[in-house]
Amino acid sequence: MKTMLIAGNWKMNTNIDETEILTSQIIDGITNNLDPNVDVLICPPSINLSSASKLIKDTRLRLGAQNCHYEQKGAYTGETSISMLTSLGCSHVILGHSERRSYFGETNQFINLKVKAAVQSNLFAILCIGETKDERDNNKTWEVLESQLFSCLIGIDGNLLEKVVIAYEPVWAIGTGLTATNDQIQEAHARIKNYISEIKGIPGRTVPVLYGGSLNEKNALEILSIQDVNGGLIGGASLTSNSFLSIINSAQRVIN
Ligand code: PGA
Repeated sequence: MKTMLIAGNWKMNTNIDETEILTSQIIDGITNNLDPNVDVLICPPSINLSSASKLIKDTRLRLGAQNCHYEQKGAYTGETSISMLTSLGCSHVILGHSERRSYFGETNQFINLKVKAAVQSNLFAILCIGETKDERDNNKTWEVLESQLFSCLIGIDGNLLEKVVIAYEPVWAIGTGLTATNDQIQEAHARIKNYISEIKGIPGRTVPVLYGGSLNEKNALEILSIQDVNGGLIGGASLTSNSFLSIINSAQRVIN
């Protein structure tokens, strides 16, 4: 049975009032209406996690962060630790997003430290990987994905892998309205799963892979139906309840 994770990455959007309104609308939309095999996650800005956390209590909506530091505490001005996130009830953290890689200089090595710290603290790490347009045009897609996976997953083996979710997000598809074709998505997802099983020595066991990059209410049913797609990481279309709830609805149709 296929299971799905529908995750909203709100990025640097929504002030406190908007966070509360959007969170409540999503809760209203999924209450009494969510398939047990579909999980729904919202990742508001870290400053608003606390208010979202109060609203999601006793609901099936899950809470995640968009980033974290790998140290438990200390002199890291502006950063958020994993225990701060878990104490708010976060179950997931997005790591290695292409915007963090390109605007904030995050390297695979740095991301690896965070992924390791997150999964060791029982937080699901949604590790984002993806190629740029240039890399795809130059037939470097797989080389890039493989190197991101290899480096970001060093030291994460055995049971720790159960806390890893991969998000395949072609950089050229993020926020552009372009999506990868069904064949490109299926090929990348299958290779990602096989590669991780192979390098981690877990034949027959696979890590879930979400698709991200201009996923919206119009293309969700088609993309989520692709064999090796286990859900979506959604930016723009997660910012309005109608489109996000419609994507969740598509996930339920795929499951059934
Ligand atoms: P998008 O963003 O859905 O707006 O393309 C996806 C993401 O960056 O995770």
